[in-house]
Amino acid sequence: MVHLLAVSGSLRQASSNSTLLRATELLRPKGLLVTHYEGIGELPHFNPDLIEHPPEQILELRSIIAQADGLLISCPEYARGIPGSFKNMLDWLVSSEAFPGKPVALFNASPRASHAQAALRLVLDTMSARLIEQASITVNLLSTPLSAQGIADDPVMGPQISTALEAFQRHLENQGL
Ligand SMILES: Cc1cc2nc3c(=O)[nH]c(=O)nc-3n(C[C@H](O)[C@H](O)[C@H](O)COP(=O)(O)O)c2cc1C
Repeated sequence: MVHLLAVSGSLRQASSNSTLLRATELLRPKGLLVTHYEGIGELPHFNPDLIEHPPEQILELRSIIAQADGLLISCPEYARGIPGSFKNMLDWLVSSEAFPGKPVALFNASPRASHAQAALRLVLDTMSARLIEQASITVNLLSTPLSAQGIADDPVMGPQISTALEAFQRHLENQGL
């Protein structure tokens, strides 16, 4: 079983990015498990003084990341950048052994969010993540907000997401995870 950890960059209850990640559960191919990390809003502010002895939530975050075969990230754009709470989580992972080499697929719920996507790519590359291009997609939930089921049933988005998940799964299986 291939295990993907989905992390949304939005804390908003009705977040399009979180809903997009929820839709992956409805579309996941056989042999792929998707779980969600929803703790970014409760993480303490990053402080380099605490790297050696990080708070309990950070140890838990690192352990959850370490257990996942790959990360599925979907993050909005705020003021042409990465939302602070999501960047805060990434900063805690910079010095973590769990992160370098971690396969990551970037999902994007808005075709307008090009600055945040570019910034995320730069940050993830700096953190030595392995960005899996064939599993990274942009869908348009900006003009038409949909439920997870609505996204899964959409004739364009549904197959696009399935194809991305299959590509991610194939990539991880071929790498021997
Ligand atoms: C404070 C704030 C700043 C935003 N700045 C941008 C921006 O610079 N570019 C953009 O394309 N959208 C911007 N947006 C729109 C959000 O990206 C959009 O509402 C998106 O759907 C939020 O993601 P979510 O639905 O997952 O919460 C901004 C929204 C907020 C609340």
